[in-house]
Amino acid sequence: MIDIHSHILPSIDDGAQTLADAIAMAKAAVAEGITTIIATPHHRNGTFDNDKQSVIQHVYALNEALRTHRIPLSILPGQEVRIHGELIEHYRDGDILPLTETKYVLVELPNNHVPRYTDQLIFDMQLQGLVPIIAHPERNSELIENPNKLYDLVKKGALTQLTAASIAGKFGKNIKKFSIQIIEANLAHLIASDAHNITTRAFHLREAYDVIQKQFGSQAVYVFQENAELLVAGETLYKDAPGRIKTKKFFGIF
Ligand SMILES: [Fe+2]
Repeated sequence: MIDIHSHILPSIDDGAQTLADAIAMAKAAVAEGITTIIATPHHRNGTFDNDKQSVIQHVYALNEALRTHRIPLSILPGQEVRIHGELIEHYRDGDILPLTETKYVLVELPNNHVPRYTDQLIFDMQLQGLVPIIAHPERNSELIENPNKLYDLVKKGALTQLTAASIAGKFGKNIKKFSIQIIEANLAHLIASDAHNITTRAFHLREAYDVIQKQFGSQAVYVFQENAELLVAGETLYKDAPGRIKTKKFFGIF
């Protein structure tokens, strides 16, 4: 399995705090069947800044450490970029690192709202040849209250990544329910861990795929896993998966 969102790089954000933490996360990932992880430290979120070059250096160092410890896991470079008005400018300046240097950029919304300029930014990113992937929309309170907004963002060209722990119920019943509804509505494209550690914010990727398997069948699991592979290869992702949809009824918008 490939995990496209994690905070495994040590000492640079609120994820792994030490190399020992990162090694423990790597071992836990391998135990779940994960072979490749994109490291996506926070960037421009008001607390942490991790520009492109520094992430690439940290990824190199962690891969070296994994080799030394004989852990069969490969780390690829990425970022979780908080959306901000100058994102395009910062991309042009070489500050923004798309996931494993493809066209896909993992973007994070604030927790409690969707800034007004988000639609325009999604449009502008696509003009630059980039594809925004919205991280964990199921945890954003404005989208929970107004799911039609998520439908609009996807129709405008954004992809979405649901967090495995949300699907596994670790953030409570409501977030799990909303995650399932997003999948039902065909508005989810990727599943990833957003793991920060091995205790309170662990991987739960296997568990999430088990839930998806039970609710939507193996075709859905295949599409999500294949999308992670396609992403790493820089190819176009499946936006639709015949057979995945249990019901087309979603918040009355279909
Ligand atoms: Fe994250």
